[in-house]
Order: sequence, then C-alpha cells, then structure tokens
Amino acid sequence: MGNRLSQFELTDKVALVTGASEGIGKDIALGLAGAGADIIVSSRREEKLKEVKSEIEGMGRKSDVFVMDVSRISDIEGLSDFVQNRFGKVDILINNAGFTVTKPAWDMTEEEWDRMVDISFKGLFFCCQIIGSIMKEQGYGKIINLSSTFSRSIIPGRSVYGGIKAGVSHLTEALAAEWAPDGVRVNALAPTAVLTPSRASLLQGEVLEKILSRIPLNRLATSEDLINASIYLSSPASDFVTGHTLFVDGGWIAAS
Ligand SMILES: NC(=O)c1ccc[n+]([C@@H]2O[C@H](COP(=O)([O-])OP(=O)(O)OC[C@H]3O[C@@H](n4cnc5c(N)ncnc54)[C@H](OP(=O)(O)O)[C@@H]3O)[C@@H](O)[C@H]2O)c1
Repeated sequence: MGNRLSQFELTDKVALVTGASEGIGKDIALGLAGAGADIIVSSRREEKLKEVKSEIEGMGRKSDVFVMDVSRISDIEGLSDFVQNRFGKVDILINNAGFTVTKPAWDMTEEEWDRMVDISFKGLFFCCQIIGSIMKEQGYGKIINLSSTFSRSIIPGRSVYGGIKAGVSHLTEALAAEWAPDGVRVNALAPTAVLTPSRASLLQGEVLEKILSRIPLNRLATSEDLINASIYLSSPASDFVTGHTLFVDGGWIAAS
C-alpha cells in the first residue's frame, strides 16, 4: 500500500489561484504551496499579489503573479498564455475570485447584479473553460470552484449571492459530467462563513450570533479547514471524486 500520505502530496504540481491577493484565495495559495505545489497567483492588485508570491518563494516553491480582472474574457485568455509560457502546464485551478453585495433583494440594482454575476459566475465559467482546455490537452486536471453554504440555504440579504453559488454548484456538476472523458475533474468547495477582511464588518454582533447558531460545531470555518479540503480535492487522493460540492460548514447544511 506504500505511504498513504503521498497521495495527498502536490509536489511538482502547478496550481493557479484566482482572487489570491487576500482572504481565502491567499490562504489556499499558501496552503497548496505548503503541500508542494508551484503557484500562479492572480487578481487585480499587483502589490498584494507580489507579497503572496514572496511568501510562497520563501517556502521553497516557484510562484508568479498575473494581474487580471476575471470578469474580462481577454484577461483570462492572457492568463492562459502566461501559464503555458511560464510553467508549461497547469494541474489545479482554484476558482476563488468573488464579489458580494449584501442587501435586501428589493434594493439590488442592475449594476450590482451585473458586477456580482460578471465576477463570481461569468468569470468563474470562463476560467473553467479556458484554463480547463489546457487540462483537456494534458488529459488531466483538477478544478475547484468556490461555492458556499448559501448555495443550499438562505439568509436575508444574500439572495443574488445564494443564486450565484447555487449556479456554481450546479455548473460544477454539469462540467464534471461533460469533461470526465477528458480527465478534467470539477468539484466545488462550499464553506460556511469565514472571517476574511471583506467579511469582517459583517460578521459581528447579532449577525455573527445568528450564523453561529446555525453551525452545529459552533464556530466559523477557518483557513486551515479550507486548506485541508483544498489539498484533498487538488491531490491524487480525490481522483475518483468529480461533480461534488464539499461543504466545510461544521454541519450547517446537515442541520438545515
Ligand atoms: N468569506 C466567507 O465567509 C465565504 C464563505 C463562503 C464562500 N466564500 C467564497 O470564497 C471566495 C473568497 O472569499 P473571500 O471572503 O476571501 O473574498 P474577498 O476577501 O472579498 O477576496 C476576494 C478576492 O477576489 C479578488 N477579486 C475581486 N474582484 C475581482 C476581479 N474583478 N478580478 C479578479 N479578482 C477579483 C480580490 O482581489 P483583488 O481585489 O486584488 O482583485 C480578492 O483576492 C469567494 O468566491 C466567496 O464567495 C467566502
């Protein structure tokens, strides 16, 4: 049976993480590097990405920065060329970049709708398609799409966000079925609330208490929780898993 842990190693793998400048994307990028992968980090803020690149290089892994707006398809095409020129392959894509507006559905504007859908759904699909086509050529690849507990449950103020995340999980199933013959595995990672910089002002007081009351394990998700799940979904250990949404939610969905 050999060393079981080797199944979880990412040595010599190349991973691309969108939205890697802060929050969950940054932590997953560092976590995958810790498991042995070389990492391309991308988002709009170059300075922040350079800091993440330095941290990854400090861990002895290769890293590179690609500045892009994920809502622009021409940027994703540029990313694809960059990855192939610099690394020659891509084994893992973490589709993490996202944008959220929290407000009552009655008040949502067209501009907010467009921005959320363009970044969190259109951008995610075209990253799957354009980066996934490199994986198709290779005959192997792992795509992990960031979904959410709100793909399967509701909370006031998150109607559009929940709709997008339900779409992300559904799209994940559809692409998994369509691309399995090409060796491309597509899964989703669905955390409950995580205390990232963009969520800090929201996850306080009564809102935080209400969220915690829905989590049987009675705490928020942490970076460690998400890194461990990402390593599993990125590694050969999960090669027979595709089309799955993995809830990392302390039992939220089970209890709803
Ligand atoms: N935090 C939570 O509680 C939670 C729970 C469940 C699921 N999620 C999901 O997990 C993912 C990350 O969440 P987070 O809380 O870490 O978010 P975040 O802190 O807001 O970070 C979002 C990331 O996306 C990047 N980004 C935003 N707009 C972009 C664009 N147009 N083009 C390229 N990159 C863009 C940002 O980088 P730049 O500003 O540098 O572009 C940033 O790195 C999202 O998909 C979110 O929906 C989060």
